[in-house]
Formats: sequence, structure tokens, C-alpha cells
Amino acid sequence: MTDLTQFARGLPKAELHLHIEGSLEPEQMFEFGRRNGVALPFRTVEEVRAAYAFGNLQDFLDIYYQGAGVLMTEDDFRDLAMAYFRRVAADGCRHVELFFDPQTHTDRGLPFSVAADGLLAGMAEAERDLGVTSSLILCFLRHLDEDAAFATLRMAESYLDRIVGVGLDSSEVGHPPSKFARVFAAAGERGLKRVAHAGEEGPPEYVWEALDLLHVDRIDHGNRALEDDRLVARLASEGMTLTVCPLSNLKLCGVSDLKLHPLKRMLELGLKPTVNSDDPAYFGGYVGENFTQITEALSLSRDDLVTLAKNSFTGSFLPPEVAERHVAAIDAYVSANS
Ligand code: ADE
Ligand code: ZN
Repeated sequence: MTDLTQFARGLPKAELHLHIEGSLEPEQMFEFGRRNGVALPFRTVEEVRAAYAFGNLQDFLDIYYQGAGVLMTEDDFRDLAMAYFRRVAADGCRHVELFFDPQTHTDRGLPFSVAADGLLAGMAEAERDLGVTSSLILCFLRHLDEDAAFATLRMAESYLDRIVGVGLDSSEVGHPPSKFARVFAAAGERGLKRVAHAGEEGPPEYVWEALDLLHVDRIDHGNRALEDDRLVARLASEGMTLTVCPLSNLKLCGVSDLKLHPLKRMLELGLKPTVNSDDPAYFGGYVGENFTQITEALSLSRDDLVTLAKNSFTGSFLPPEVAERHVAAIDAYVSANS
């Protein structure tokens, strides 16, 4: 590691774009499959990893939903979360706002409570044992219809005091944000924050819709917003946080080389990007590895890294005074390492 990548690893940071089901490592897939009697179409970890050659988002989603089928009990979800938190605590991560996909589990017959209670148990354990705080974001699967999203919101009703917000994920193209305008309004009425994947593969119009129809507090990805100058100006003037995922974009062929990744341009345009892992078990690295590889590929400066780390706290849903304490910890880290 260079001095700069070492500096990046140790920087206090938050992760704002992490699908917990996407942290399922092949080894855990076999372990959970064995303990739950769920058969896998793979014989070895190497075979699983060899299958992780994706041409686009849908190629990945097909295998990701299949993998999630081994998660059956609250303990599975708690263990999954704790394994993730242990890894990112070692990457300087102090806070995580994690996505989960309840419909992936309720559509297999699991009660809503299995994933929710298991994850909440893992999150409490991580705070107690590792000092990493976290909150939960419930994502609606956009390839399903809005009635199904409403049904999910109803299932979550008794958990809403422990869920910070709702998100929108899965197959983007053909499923614009407008499809979910009513359920996002209902979530807003319940005091939930709102985020949506937009501009990952979909056009800039989907980012406009996420802003104007879903009234989002953050955009997940947002890469294709750069194709529209008026949209860039809007995002910059609103100080909208973008949760960018470099290794995900590489693995899903959004960019052919990390050297061509738009993160640096986003910073130069006055946007507010953050660095995240998306689905680290599938895309080749956790948040620290995303920082390392994008720093090297784009020759990011120390100041760029500090900006990205600060954006992760000021763009989080933490109370402002808590976010400010994390920003002060970044300043202290910078002073101690200069
Ligand atoms: N679900 C998990 N990862 C995703 C991604 N990168 N885009 C959309 N939906 C997802
Ligand atoms: Zn994502």
C-alpha cells in the first residue's frame, strides 16, 4: 500500500450504499446452505467466484437473488451482518446505512421479522462490540409492482421506529422512479427518509424523476446524471449526496476501466459524491478496497479523500451534531497524519 492508500484506509468514514445481501461471501453461501438444507448449483467456492462475470446489472441480480436463498433464519441475518461489520470496522468505517431487500425474503415465505430482527440484532452487536453505528433502509424491488411495495411498507409498520428510510433497487431500466411515486409519498408521510438508485444504468430522466417525483434525500449511484448539464447544476445547487460505487460500476460494465470512472469529475463539478461498495462479496472489495483502487486509478489527492470521507458523514442520516463529531474526528486524523 502507498502512503496515500494507507491514509485512505484509516480515514474515519461512513458507508451509505451497501446491500447487506450483497455481502454474502461464497464461503458463507455454502455454510448457510449446509445448515439450512438449501442446495446450491455450485460445488466449490471457486465455481461460485467463476460465475461472477457479469455483463450488466441483470446478470448480477439473477445470481444475487439466487444466493440470498440460503438465508433462512434470524441467526443467518445476524451472522451475515456481523461478518460485514467486522470487515468494515477494519477499513475505518464508523457508521453504515445498510439496505435490505425484504421482498427477496418474504416472497420465499419468510416472515418480514426474520430478516428485520436478525439484522437489527447484528447491528446492535456491532455497535456494542465494534463501536460501528448503523441504521436500516428498506428497499423496494422496482421490477415488482407498486402494490407489492405498499404491502411491504405495511409489513414494516411495527418496525418503522427502527428503520431510517426507504430505497429503490433492482432492475433499473424499464422501471422508472415514477412507478413508485405513491408509495414513496406514503413513506415520506411516515417520516421516513427516501433514497433511490438512479442513473446506474438508467438515463438522466430517471434521476430527474427520483428528485421531482420521489423527493429523495440522496441518489444512489447517479453516474449517468453527468450526461445532462442542467441536472448536474441542480444536483450541485441542492448539495445532493451521490452514493457512488466504483468497483460495482467496473464489475457491471458501467465503466470499462476504473481510470475512466466519473468520480473525480463529480468532485470537479462541485457535486457531493461518496465512495461505497454496493455488493462487496460480488464486486471484489469492501469500502476500504473501493477507496484504495479508485485513489490509485484516478490519482486522487489527499484533499479529495478527506472531502469524500466528510461527504459520507454530512450526507448520512445521522443527527447533524453526531455527523459533526465524525467530521471533527476526520480533522483530527488528518492532523495526526500530516
Ligand atoms: N441490488 C443490489 N445491488 C444492486 C445494484 N447495484 N443496483 C440495483 N439493485 C441492486
Ligand atoms: Zn446498490
